[in-house]
Formats: sequence, structure tokens, C-alpha cells
Amino acid sequence: MEPPEIAQAVAILRRGGLVALPTETVYGLGADAANPDAVRRIFAAKGRPADHPVIVHLPEAAALARWADPVPPAAEALARAFWPGPLTLIVPRAAHVLDLVTGGQPSVGLRIPDHPVARALLHAFGGGVAAPSANRFGRLSPPRAEHVRAELGDAVDLVLEGGASRVGIESTIVDLTGAEPAILRPGAISARDLEAVLGAPVRVVERSETRAPGTLESHYAPRTPLRLVERSELTEVIRTSGSRRLGVLSRLPAPAYILPDRVRWRQAPADAAGFAHALYAALRDLDGLGLDEIVVEAPPMDEAWVPVRDRLRRAAHRET
Ligand code: TXA
Ligand code: MG
Repeated sequence: MEPPEIAQAVAILRRGGLVALPTETVYGLGADAANPDAVRRIFAAKGRPADHPVIVHLPEAAALARWADPVPPAAEALARAFWPGPLTLIVPRAAHVLDLVTGGQPSVGLRIPDHPVARALLHAFGGGVAAPSANRFGRLSPPRAEHVRAELGDAVDLVLEGGASRVGIESTIVDLTGAEPAILRPGAISARDLEAVLGAPVRVVERSETRAPGTLESHYAPRTPLRLVERSELTEVIRTSGSRRLGVLSRLPAPAYILPDRVRWRQAPADAAGFAHALYAALRDLDGLGLDEIVVEAPPMDEAWVPVRDRLRRAAHRET
């Protein structure tokens, strides 16, 4: 038997309302992907430009054939290997897919999330659920239900509770519409993971090459200015910050010399997956303290840190 909140969420989707749903990456702001008025409400709630495409969340891999036309063989292989999971496939759209969902492009982004609440909702609803991350446009994605409530409030009809998102950063996006598969956004599933299934090289596209949202340099940013600092320079940066109030996110524990009312220190896990899981909650927490600057210890250069480095680079970028 499905829990009462799922039935309520399905009823809201059917009448064109908005439901925030937990996924293993971040929370999504969901609407019936076949209802143009409902999809328009997503853009209004987020304050997002209407030409930006949104990902369609599916109940099962069989739905790939209803949303993609044709279905690239690579999409079938990747769906089999990684769905449900933190991987979005960009594929040629089927004719019925709304321009509002695709941003008028000939392709559509599809994913099956790996979260019991999201899966229960998708199964009970049966159709596709269009869902960008459930944050205001340009802000950090929410890994917890309370972030969604604080940021979107009454603009959402229902926020489904699903605990802290396991991955904590957005899905890997792989574009399968070109001659070779290309990663448009790095995530928990790496180029290497994809190559192992496809038996072919997977390119990682520099985001400035595309014009999709989430590719804007200043996307995923806290309001407080954020700076990346090498570990070897942390002490000096703090020592020379004068009367300015700093937030620090580091893999190291807080040193004894810092003054807790001037420097808010948050220790993040030292492994890439743990750091990704903690990242947005820590930045949202520090962003709420009215500090002058957030200083983040630059992550290592290894392959495993590519997705975290990507998000931090964007968060540190200021449009001039
Ligand atoms: O983990 C995630 O992917 C989360 C959860 C909720 O599923 N969703 C998410 O959605 O991050 P959003 O809208 O914040 O980011 C989706 C990204 C955007 O950068 C968008 O440009 C890209 O996917 N995208 C969607 N459809 C596309 C398409 N047809 N072609 C190229 N990029 C596309
Ligand atoms: Mg987003």
C-alpha cells in the first residue's frame, strides 16, 4: 500500500500542481511533464528563464522508448547499467515532448532517480515528472527538505520528506545526441564509469561550450562571496583577514588559534564522496550567517574530485 503522502502528491501532479521530491542527488521541483501550465509553474516558482530545459524523471527504463526517438543504443546500455541512479541521459526527443521541457531543443534529458520516495511517486503517477533542482534560479541545489521549504515556501504545493540526499550534488549529465558521448555536467558517475560500459571514450565538455543553464559560470552560488584557497595558504588568509568575519570549509579540523566569533569553521569529510554529500548543506549553513566571505580549502586534483571542483569553481565565480 502506498503512503498517504504519495497519493496526495499524485493528486497534486494530476491537477497541475508542484511537488518537491527527494532524490539521491538533490531535491527536485516536480510537475507533470505533459502539462504545459504545470511546467510553466516550475519556471515561475524558481524565477528561472523559460528557455532552459528541465530533466524528465521516469518510473522505469521501459519509458525511455516513450520519451526518446530514436533511442540511441548507448542510452539503453547506460540505463541498464546505472538506472536508477545519478545519471541523466540527453537523447533525441520524442515528438510529444513539450518545447517547455526541452527549452525548444531537439533533445530531452531523462533520468530514473534512486530514492524510495521518488520511485514510489513516479510509479504511482505513471507519467514523466519534469523536475529541475528545487532551488531559486542560480542558487545552490537543496540536499534537504528544509532547504526547499525555506527557499520556495508557498510556491510548492507539497514537499515530500526523504531525509538528506545521499549523493548531495546533481546528477552526471551525458549527451548522447552527438557523434561521441560527452559529459555536460560531472557527477557521481564518472567518465571512467561510462567508458567501462560503452567501451568508447567519453569526453568531458567545458561548460562554456554549451548554453544550457547550470552551465552558466555563476550557477550554484551562495550569496556570500566565496573564495578557493590552497591548504598551504589557509593560515595566512585567516591571519590577514583583519576584522572581516569568515566562514571556512576545510578538510582539516579547526585550528586552536582561531576566534570562533570571527571565523566559523566547518570541517568537511576528507573523501570526495563524503565532501560532495556535505558540500551544499555546509555552504547553505555558512551563507545564512551573514559573513563577509566564505573561504573553501581547494580540493585535491584527483579524478574523484572533478564534480566537487566543478561546483566550487562555479560557486566562486562572480559575474562582473
Ligand atoms: O540531479 C539532478 O540532475 C537534479 C535532480 C532533481 O534530478 N536535477 C537537476 O536539474 O539538477 P536542473 O534543472 O537544476 O539541471 C538540469 C541540467 C541543466 O543544466 C540543463 O541545462 C540540463 O540539465 N539539460 C536538461 N535538458 C537538457 C537538454 N535537452 N540538453 C542539454 N542539457 C539539458
Ligand atoms: Mg539546478
